[in-house]
Amino acid sequence: MKLTQVSVLLAGLFSTVVVAQVEQVIQVGHLLDVRTGNYQKNKAILVEAGRISAIVDADQAPKGAQLVDLSQHYVVPGLIDMHVHLTSDPQKHGYRGLVETPTREAIFGVSAAKATLNAGFTTVRNLGAAGYADVSLRDAINDGEIQGPRMRVAANTICITGGHCDNNLLPHIYNSRSAGVANGPDEVRSKVRENIKYGADVIKFAATGGVMSKNTDVNASQYNFDEMKALIDEAHDRGRIVAAHAHGLQGIKRAIAAGVDSIEHGSFIDDEAIKLAKKHGTYLVMDVYVSDFILSEGEKAGILPESLAKEKTVGLLQRQNFQKAVKAGVKMAYGTDAGVYTHGLNGRQLAYMVQWGMTPLQAIQAATVNAGTLLNWKNEQGQHNVGVLEVGAYADLVAVPVDPLTQIKALEQPAMVVKSGQPVL
Ligand code: ARG
Repeated sequence: MKLTQVSVLLAGLFSTVVVAQVEQVIQVGHLLDVRTGNYQKNKAILVEAGRISAIVDADQAPKGAQLVDLSQHYVVPGLIDMHVHLTSDPQKHGYRGLVETPTREAIFGVSAAKATLNAGFTTVRNLGAAGYADVSLRDAINDGEIQGPRMRVAANTICITGGHCDNNLLPHIYNSRSAGVANGPDEVRSKVRENIKYGADVIKFAATGGVMSKNTDVNASQYNFDEMKALIDEAHDRGRIVAAHAHGLQGIKRAIAAGVDSIEHGSFIDDEAIKLAKKHGTYLVMDVYVSDFILSEGEKAGILPESLAKEKTVGLLQRQNFQKAVKAGVKMAYGTDAGVYTHGLNGRQLAYMVQWGMTPLQAIQAATVNAGTLLNWKNEQGQHNVGVLEVGAYADLVAVPVDPLTQIKALEQPAMVVKSGQPVL
């Protein structure tokens, strides 16, 4: 046999093998490369074991595999919300939450997870849940019992006694304390270890007071530098990224200096802290939509009068500071605090980010490649699992009928959502 004959034979064998493995072919009219903002026209995404095995010209796609026809659509990677609470019911704020159990919250999370996925959010980072309800929800989704986004979960938010995340609603006779409370470098280290022991993928702590918690000051720092450093080092040693809830300036700066991966909320950030974030490569995850829900519907949803008053000092300033941070070129990832507001409306914040200074591409990048990079979640070959439509990533995507770079609101209502190569709507 001549060499050419051998190679023809081998090529024939090889292509049948490839055809046999491709489970789905997703035909895409306009495929957005979120790294550059360029569209690739008439492509076919080949899917094997739920992941992208190749992206080829549409006419090169193997025949015989199951076909998803998005040839008339604009397609972006599945969106990522880096700050959600799928087990929180947004109608049960304040004292209403006291009668909830982690079990009940996990069951609530089933419909919240589905609503989130239907909205095009195929991955979420769940930043805080009681009783490991988030771990159970994640595992039920991974086991295929229920439909939902891929979840990276934080389990118990770590905070100081009486801080944002502790239960401060009842007097001392009830002896109520959240499971995430830890004080001093040793206790915070052991709390990180405990969260990881029971299933946490990521770590969250409260670096300042918060809006929704009773008796906490959004401007006041929680934890000294040594405590933050111990917590973050421990998490990093175990391969976990760390998110810091931080509104106040001092807490923001302290958490950045201690090496945190992302600042959540970031409301009172100033020029100096913006510089510090740039220097350390810290991401800002600023939830610039949620204020509208809190101020318009919060009272009906049980939000404490004290929290409504605090929100009035935070909301607008946070948006103005977001605009400053965008101009300065700080790394940004998309996070909305869903659970404080209604699940499934996660996409609404995109237009707010554009209104407050981002280009539509930047807003989409925040919710895809930036979030995926911050998650630092990779497959065995070191390729990103989520946030990009590239070989090795999960075949998660969102399709809309018009160009989202000119009509960002189109992403609020996807025509089709695909997870692991399968349509979910
Ligand atoms: N979970 C946050 C807190 O309680 C919500 C803050 C919402 N407000 C805002 N403007 N982003 O502090």
